[in-house]
Amino acid sequence: DAVSLGLYSHYMQKETFEQPEVVANTLQMVSGAQSISPLLFGTQADDVFRNTQNILILACGTSYHAAMVARYWIEEVAHIPVNVEIASEYRYRTSVPLPNTLIITLSQSGETADTIAALQHAKNVHNGLAATTLSICNVPESALIRQSQLRFLTRAGPEIGVASTKAFTTQLSALFVLTLVLAKIKGSLSVAKEEEYLNQLRHLPAAMAQVLLLEPQIIEWAKSFVDKQHALFLGRGIHWPIAMEGALKLKEITYIHAESYAAGELKHGPLALVDERMPVIAIAPNDTLIEKLKSNLQEVRARSGELYIFADRDTFIEPAEGVHVINLPDHAGFLSPILHTLPLQLLAYHTAVARGTDVDKPRNLAKSVTVE
Ligand code: G6P
Repeated sequence: DAVSLGLYSHYMQKETFEQPEVVANTLQMVSGAQSISPLLFGTQADDVFRNTQNILILACGTSYHAAMVARYWIEEVAHIPVNVEIASEYRYRTSVPLPNTLIITLSQSGETADTIAALQHAKNVHNGLAATTLSICNVPESALIRQSQLRFLTRAGPEIGVASTKAFTTQLSALFVLTLVLAKIKGSLSVAKEEEYLNQLRHLPAAMAQVLLLEPQIIEWAKSFVDKQHALFLGRGIHWPIAMEGALKLKEITYIHAESYAAGELKHGPLALVDERMPVIAIAPNDTLIEKLKSNLQEVRARSGELYIFADRDTFIEPAEGVHVINLPDHAGFLSPILHTLPLQLLAYHTAVARGTDVDKPRNLAKSVTVE
């Protein structure tokens, strides 16, 4: 491979630790600016976004999880309705197109066959309905970029590990920028808020670097995951897709069966699976849903489930018998999902290393799925 591993043992590890830098690169045009501009997405973006009445995001795999996070951001901050669809489903579904849709494809490679076909399908069904297309992608001149009117290039650099890490967090960074641009155009972002969010974005790489320092504690946790056969990931709200991403990382590279659930759904099924042998990993940021989540976690503990909780320092969850806690710094507001992704990547990585799997090239998987 042209990209050297340097001091790292695997590309996934290298790419995980590159995240503060590549997120900073992706945000470069934003960080230096006084205010946020639609031009970041192309010269026609201002007009397009002004006319946008709803958004459809199409993606696969890890990119789909980034799309799910974006729905929470865009609906809450820009007040535009968002639909998120798995590309392989959307392309064969008879959906009802809405007028003035911004069709967004999200992809690391820009070459995923299902996402390309979903984009084409979306163009067909929205024909005559004033739709426009935007691709957020890591590869310039890829098929999705070529086939879209607007574009935003993430600057993750080449991602070699099959399990996506830095592509995901750079996508999320781009999607938060998009959220702010849309909110500004739609008049739902005050100047003070814009400044506040820009500052948070400027601080994001440093905040990520700080979270990566938790690695030694995560290595300790990974030791107790080595011989597990199942794991359950829980999150609520905007961190539910992060729980999904955590489960995906673990299953991809460790081959441990991992599931994710929105924690409020526990009582509708997965609670039946809980026993002392299945670790339950919870993403527990100090957001508006934390009290709800805490009571979900009590339900797990009451069934002898062993809890591994990634909390914020200001979540104030105390470790106890069967309750392990790693604290991130204080709650990071809207950017919290980006920070909470990092320990889950490290947990999957170190569990895989301890199990001796082929971390960068997991069995049966491909980096880019260019055939159906
Ligand atoms: C494959 C990769 C995943 C990736 C997915 C979508 O399954 O292994 O890491 O998330 O494709 O790829 P894309 O390039 O469209 O983001």
